Amino acid sequence: MKQNGVIFDLDGVICFTDKYHYQAWKVMADAENIYFDEIINNRLRGVSRMASLEIILERSEKAYTEEEKKALAEKKNNIYKELLNQMSPDDLSDEVKNTLDELRERGLKLAIGSSSKNTRLILSRLGLSDYFDAISDGTNITHSKPHPEVFLMAADFLGMKPEECLVVEDARAGIDAAVAGGFESAGIGEAAEHEAVTYPINRIADLLKI
Ligand code: BG6
Ligand code: MG
Repeated sequence: MKQNGVIFDLDGVICFTDKYHYQAWKVMADAENIYFDEIINNRLRGVSRMASLEIILERSEKAYTEEEKKALAEKKNNIYKELLNQMSPDDLSDEVKNTLDELRERGLKLAIGSSSKNTRLILSRLGLSDYFDAISDGTNITHSKPHPEVFLMAADFLGMKPEECLVVEDARAGIDAAVAGGFESAGIGEAAEHEAVTYPINRIADLLKI
């Protein structure tokens, strides 16, 4: 690839936490009698916790106060963190680890660009706490994807310009964010179908062919 740096989304790219997000939101939604399914869950990919809650509440008759919304988001996050505690370095696939190692071997700088405030917890569960050259996540941004802030800060932490970094994403909102920030992108899953993705890929190891 022509870039010197790669910025990876975390959830859905490095690891598969979608199922835990779904389970945790489902417990919260069921307790509130709000309809929630996997199709609605797909819309939460790349979107911040509070923005995700707003999407779930579209199906609710009740108007929640800001206080109540905060409590619901906190309840979901507590359940989610319990589920994250089941994760271990075994949840890091050989394919992802080998691809990261090979990119590093080729001299590229590697960063995380994730909307999640649980990024550091997840990286620690996977045994990757000290692996990346830079981490930009939900704790250092005010606007979540599709806003480009999280990737612009990741590039800045690497000391690089957007055109020097490739963004790797699984969410459509993430490709929107990459485009808005002036980054080329590689997309897997639904992000590979995005009309503005630079490199649609089938699997993470395909990054080695770009
Ligand atoms: C993103 C996920 O990485 O992080 C979203 O794709 C999630 O589904 C968002 O809502 C925020 O995560 P957290 O861990 O801060 O609640
Ligand atoms: Mg993702």
